[in-house]
Amino acid sequence: MTDPDHAVREAVAALRAGQLIGLPTETVYGLAADARNPQAVARIFAAKGRPADHPLIVHLASADQLDDWARDIPEAARRLAAAFWPGPLTLILKRQPGVPDAVTGGQDTVGLRVPAHPVAQAVLSAFGGGLAAPSANRFGRISPTTAAHVRDELGDAVAVVLDGGGCAVGIESTIVDLSRGAPVVLRPGHISAVELSRVLGAPVTTPDAPDATAPRVSGALASHYAPITPVRLLAAADLPAVAAAAEKAGQRIAVLSRSLTAQGANWRQLPADPVGYANSLYRELRHLDRSGADLLLIEAPPSSVEWLAVNDRLKRAAAHPPETGDGLPKA
Ligand code: TXA
Ligand code: MG
Repeated sequence: MTDPDHAVREAVAALRAGQLIGLPTETVYGLAADARNPQAVARIFAAKGRPADHPLIVHLASADQLDDWARDIPEAARRLAAAFWPGPLTLILKRQPGVPDAVTGGQDTVGLRVPAHPVAQAVLSAFGGGLAAPSANRFGRISPTTAAHVRDELGDAVAVVLDGGGCAVGIESTIVDLSRGAPVVLRPGHISAVELSRVLGAPVTTPDAPDATAPRVSGALASHYAPITPVRLLAAADLPAVAAAAEKAGQRIAVLSRSLTAQGANWRQLPADPVGYANSLYRELRHLDRSGADLLLIEAPPSSVEWLAVNDRLKRAAAHPPETGDGLPKA
């Protein structure tokens, strides 16, 4: 048995030495480094294989630290922080001049979040400063939701991986840009635009199409969060016929279903509600990605607004270009 306090102390010592740690949060596991140490932050980019101009979120112990990192903070940001922190919400704000370029990708803004997970809270409180932490996956791959996933993805690049169990939310935080006037959702998540609007008493928009002038968000790349296996997203009504045709053509298939009952080992059924679905999604994608299948078929959830964040991740998973054109067996 490892003593949890000892593990936290070890993680904080590694952070102070400029090393990387695997940090559990309520959304997904982060790959954390001292946000004030550019050499440590450079290690994050090297470990992930992430382009250097993609900015990182800085994680803080509490909203009291907002002014150390951001300036010209609008009232709306304070209200969102008061309502949703600690929690799965990232605010994009104008940065303080001292925030390293390595963290912001040279942009004039910084992403800030106060995570709710007790282990993240313990580390942040003991460390005292900000922790730059992207999801602890290799660039473009599925975010980790267990400590074992982090080890699998990053191995020795991480000095310490803290085990905080499975992540409760299971998909990345909602990102809201408050740096350019009216708040805009850059990445949908567990906290919806409706909930944000309710707190602000004003509409919060979620642009359908990525805005070419918006700041770079790697999660906004078309094929982010992708398994290696080619993915097809299908309506429930079409899935059985496509599965049968693929199998007839000699393809090994894996299926992630929601309403359809699982048939066989490589069919996994996810919960019917969006919160339960999001909680299990990355774990199941990872599992099926290792099943040796040639093709991963995913039953598309409803297109209603409560499924927005899940559908966003599924669309990106399916945008991974399949090696065989559209992923369908050739007729
Ligand atoms: O739930 C989460 O947000 C997790 C956990 C670990 O906190 N972190 C996470 O980090 O998903 P990452 O780096 O995988 O995704 C953060 C996204 C990236 O797409 C990044 O481009 C965007 O946030 N981002 C960070 N700073 C930004 C900024 N100043 N302007 C616009 N986008 C920013
Ligand atoms: Mg990520």
